[in-house]
Amino acid sequence: MNYLLGLDIGTSGVKAILISVDGKVITTADHSYSLITPEAGWAEQNPEDWWEATVKVINNVIKESNINTKNLKGISLSGQMHSSVFLDEKMEVIRPAILWSDTRTSKQCQEIYDKVGGLKSLMKYVSNPALEGFTAPKILWLRENEPQNYQQVYKVMLPKDYIRYKLTCEIYAEVTDAAGTLLFDVKKNNWSEKMLENLDIDREFLLPVLKSIDIAGKITANVARKTGLEIGTPVVAGGADNACGAVGSGIIKEGRVMVSIGSSGVVLAQSDNPAADNKGRIHLFNHAKPGSWYMMGVMLSAGMSFSWLKEKLYCNIYDYKSLNKKAEKVNPGSGGLIFLPYLYGERTPHADSNARGVFFGISGKHEQGHFIRSVMEGVSFGLRDSLELIKEKGIKIDEVRVIGGGAKSEVWQQMLADILREEISLINIEEGPAFGAALIAGVGVGEYNNFAETEEIIKVKRRISPDKKISKSYNKFYEIFKGLYHSLKDDFKKLSRV
Ligand code: XUL
Repeated sequence: MNYLLGLDIGTSGVKAILISVDGKVITTADHSYSLITPEAGWAEQNPEDWWEATVKVINNVIKESNINTKNLKGISLSGQMHSSVFLDEKMEVIRPAILWSDTRTSKQCQEIYDKVGGLKSLMKYVSNPALEGFTAPKILWLRENEPQNYQQVYKVMLPKDYIRYKLTCEIYAEVTDAAGTLLFDVKKNNWSEKMLENLDIDREFLLPVLKSIDIAGKITANVARKTGLEIGTPVVAGGADNACGAVGSGIIKEGRVMVSIGSSGVVLAQSDNPAADNKGRIHLFNHAKPGSWYMMGVMLSAGMSFSWLKEKLYCNIYDYKSLNKKAEKVNPGSGGLIFLPYLYGERTPHADSNARGVFFGISGKHEQGHFIRSVMEGVSFGLRDSLELIKEKGIKIDEVRVIGGGAKSEVWQQMLADILREEISLINIEEGPAFGAALIAGVGVGEYNNFAETEEIIKVKRRISPDKKISKSYNKFYEIFKGLYHSLKDDFKKLSRV
């Protein structure tokens, strides 16, 4: 039997997953690392920590699985998107990476609009708006705030591209991650000369861009010694975590939509045409399947809102099972209590780093169960916002596959079907982006002839239909939910200045 290895360089840690080519999970391993928050709203990590964790997890899966490593035919990587790794001429890390969840770059986003000529030009050049999380504003921030570091920059890389470089000594970018830099013409598959020119960013910072399924290099002798891998094992370019998550859930043809409730929430639809939203409310990025794209809405605090409720609001007195039970006892609509899930600002559809969480409509009759359920409902309403935008773009929806921690809760599953007004499907694979990366490795090294073959591995195990009556009553709450952000927008801004 032949095997494939997928690595996901995530925000909380690295995950490795070893699968056999028929799609069975042989072993998994994770190793976590910490987040550095030098100031409120900042989020950084040391790329060296990613690398140490990667070496550990590879060692662990090789040891535990006990496979003959000669039968490991390919490795690929998934990674947190947008986060910037600044490297000097010796390819040494200059400063900690600034992550996708960091919000320090509002000023630089405004500068990008000013320099490029507004949203219309940005949409023309890169099909996406300037958002704090993306890579380009981080480069401008470094130039303005740490000129001594900026002067040393030789290359700017994305997390999984940096780890691939450590594995192979080859320096490449890759299309699905290049798409999230705001420097890449998503429709034409090239770095955008217009953006580089307008922002005065050195072309030399950027690397040649591979397709996700291209072989980028081979495991070096030094890495083989450290990890237990064979020298020369092919390393396939891989993809952004959302692209890999989509591959790992079978979202590789039109009509399929992925809804993911992890820490953040994602609604992603594959598309054969690169049709961007001209208001930039939803992202358009290149997909791992060559010649295809995906539209994606990102909610910053989805599962995170629920863990906030568990840990901070209820001080861990209830476990997830008890929280679900309490939510289940409350009627849909939480007795008129509405939660806005903007704990750390929001991306889709509002792109507002000042937005904050709100419980609206609290009355004397509300009890704990109402608060718990309203958090789940608020997150689901936010996901509906993204789905509505995808529908508005005319993307057809045949199947909605729900993945992530939130998908494990039965009450949340039914609520999603009712609020999204779609039948939802649950699948047999729960391993997320690392699994998708292993499949990409398989396509890259020819274990699968194409992505369509990988679909055989991913099966729908259950479908949940919306309850028409409940859906209808949720519509009324959703209308109020949608209006609340607009009513509060100016107050969020004022609050941020106090
Ligand atoms: C996507 C995004 C997040 C990260 C999480 O645009 O910022 O989903 O990719 O790792």
